[in-house]
Amino acid sequence: MRGLKGKVAAVTGAGSGIGQAAAKRLAEEGCKVAVIDWKTTAADDTLAQIRQAGGEGIALTADVGKEDEVAPAFRRVIEAFGRLDVLVSNAGVFYASRDGRVDELSKPVWDEIVGSNLTGMYLACKHGVAAIRSTAKTGAVVITGSPTGMLGVTPASIAYSSSKAGVHGMARVMAADYALEGIRVNVVVPGFTLSPLVRELVADPKVYEWNVKNIPMRRGAEPEEIAGAVAFLASDDSSFMTGSFVVVDGGLTAV
Ligand SMILES: NC(=O)c1ccc[n+]([C@@H]2O[C@H](COP(=O)([O-])OP(=O)(O)OC[C@H]3O[C@@H](n4cnc5c(N)ncnc54)[C@H](O)[C@@H]3O)[C@@H](O)[C@H]2O)c1
Repeated sequence: MRGLKGKVAAVTGAGSGIGQAAAKRLAEEGCKVAVIDWKTTAADDTLAQIRQAGGEGIALTADVGKEDEVAPAFRRVIEAFGRLDVLVSNAGVFYASRDGRVDELSKPVWDEIVGSNLTGMYLACKHGVAAIRSTAKTGAVVITGSPTGMLGVTPASIAYSSSKAGVHGMARVMAADYALEGIRVNVVVPGFTLSPLVRELVADPKVYEWNVKNIPMRRGAEPEEIAGAVAFLASDDSSFMTGSFVVVDGGLTAV
């Protein structure tokens, strides 16, 4: 893809699943990658895979929901590479058994999920965009959204769906706010994606079938299939796109 070679990218939630695949793909495209995750060993593992493939990067531990961890992480990126061009704000949690219907959902669980998925996206964007503006000046932000932010497709997931709808709104306003400065902001919307945790949850073939029954392609995505869209949105190949939602869902939201 055009325009990624030599760029510096930071990816949150890069220790697993979609974030890991995106970090590896951006490294493959020639970016230096800051692998950010709240699990140190997971971040280290992704960095090891990047290095093994001949790429370059650093691993940083930070909970995106905590400003006193996010701000220093982006400072470290600038110290290590002198600039930031691309932010992939992707970290998020999905607690299928703890999220719930609105009358049953406890405030601590709401706070925990919204804390990572919405406040965490805000904090990563706050410090990531500031890092881009103060160094590279122009760049690209890719935010991981969800069909649940658009449609009521996942029952009893009030906190998760609300956090994703919030992220979609945040991305639209960010796109408008930074368009004239040359910072593009787009959303990748993965459908049912077989990240390690999801793969475990649907290990029973009956559960897998239930999950894919409304997907025209009748399967889940591999994280690498989402990473391709992330790399495209980070690259100059999407130079006229901002505030766009790129849905990668095997047709789920088309029917
Ligand atoms: N898998 C799917 O079906 C699916 C569908 C739509 C959207 N998404 C979104 O994609 C993103 C990635 O999900 P995934 O499926 O790859 O999950 P995953 O669990 O495989 O990866 C998420 C990573 O984010 C990290 N993380 C979580 N909260 C964090 C925090 N507060 N601070 C720092 N790191 C944190 C985790 O440690 C993990 O490494 C999430 O935003 C999720 O909501 C996933």
